[in-house]
Amino acid sequence: MRTNILLVCYPTLLCILIVVFQHVYDNVIKHAKKCDPKTNFNCPTPEIPVTPPLLQVPRSPYRAVRTDFFLFNDLPDESCRRNGSCPATILLTGKNHSLGEILAGTMITSSLNTSQIMASYNDLGSVAANVLGSSSMPPQYLIPLKFLDDIIYLVQRQCTNNFLTNVVDPEVDPRECVKGLVLWRNDSTLVNDELYKGYYKGNLHGKINEIIAAYDFLNSNKNNFNVSIWYNSTYGQTGDNVLLRIPRSVNLIMKKYEPG
Ligand SMILES: *[C@@H]1O[C@H](CO)[C@@H](O)[C@H](O)[C@H]1NC(C)=O
Ligand SMILES: *[C@@H]1O[C@H](CO)[C@@H](O)[C@H](O)[C@H]1NC(C)=O
Ligand SMILES: *[C@@H]1O[C@H](CO)[C@@H](O)[C@H](O)[C@H]1NC(C)=O
Ligand SMILES: *[C@@H]1O[C@H](CO)[C@@H](O)[C@H](O)[C@H]1NC(C)=O
Ligand SMILES: *[C@@H]1O[C@H](CO)[C@@H](O)[C@H](O)[C@H]1NC(C)=O
Ligand SMILES: *[C@@H]1O[C@H](CO)[C@@H](O)[C@H](O)[C@H]1NC(C)=O
Repeated sequence: MRTNILLVCYPTLLCILIVVFQHVYDNVIKHAKKCDPKTNFNCPTPEIPVTPPLLQVPRSPYRAVRTDFFLFNDLPDESCRRNGSCPATILLTGKNHSLGEILAGTMITSSLNTSQIMASYNDLGSVAANVLGSSSMPPQYLIPLKFLDDIIYLVQRQCTNNFLTNVVDPEVDPRECVKGLVLWRNDSTLVNDELYKGYYKGNLHGKINEIIAAYDFLNSNKNNFNVSIWYNSTYGQTGDNVLLRIPRSVNLIMKKYEPG
């Protein structure tokens, strides 16, 4: 009698075990497969995503504009903040103004180079063909560009309304054109002063005037490349080993340094 009960129970037990196992599998294993690197730092990375280096570009309402306490009238009028059309500024200084003018003219492209778009960022050689940027805090781990929450800007000398017609993959391509303004300052103390006053607490009016980056070409000439770069280190103060968007601002001039 006992053996009979066991014989009947055995398949039932097996069935229950299978159901339990299936349930565990569904919840744990399958779930792990849907790991989203955007929300979970510990997702396995099947391959290192190729992401183009981005410039740290200020958000439109904070980009530097003319104010009473700024001596410089080459900055845009404050009215651009109303419709989000403010350009983003890069400051240059150095001993040789004409060299600065040459470099200023080559830092930012004047039209979208679609070969980079076509290459879907897999061709690292073409990454520098366009100047791309973002306002968000840089991600601290490698994630594909399409997972970045922020808008990718295309920084250009002029923005046209139809630049988006060249866009191939709206998920990864730049979505907003930002005019890049490259301005010369006569010496580094002026740049320091302008950067300092651009901070909310750097002036008495609580105004914010952010700059992409500033470059001092020092005593550079065609045989000697000696440059120092100012960048905003605010995000770096949030902890140790914080990744900042500096490489692109360095590369912006390194690649173009072919004077003479
Ligand atoms: C924004 O406003 C400025 C002047 O206030 C104007 O020149 C410009 O064309 C406007 N831009 C857009 C995109 O509406
Ligand atoms: C400044 O740079 C330009 C361009 O490289 C060069 O032709 C000129 O000789 C330089 N001037 C001085 C004073 O070094
Ligand atoms: C576009 O970028 C590619 C790759 O860097 C380069 O070979 C090509 O000359 C660029 N085209 C223009 C018009 O700048
Ligand atoms: C910068 O220096 C040049 C030449 O020394 C001078 O003509 C110009 O007025 C100066 N600009 C400012 C804003 O001081
Ligand atoms: C530096 O970056 C921080 C964070 O984005 C921002 O709040 C601040 O205004 C920036 N300062 C300047 C001068 O760009
Ligand atoms: C680079 O510039 C700095 C600051 O002006 C100077 O001390 C240094 O000697 C320069 N280096 C070279 C190689 O010219």
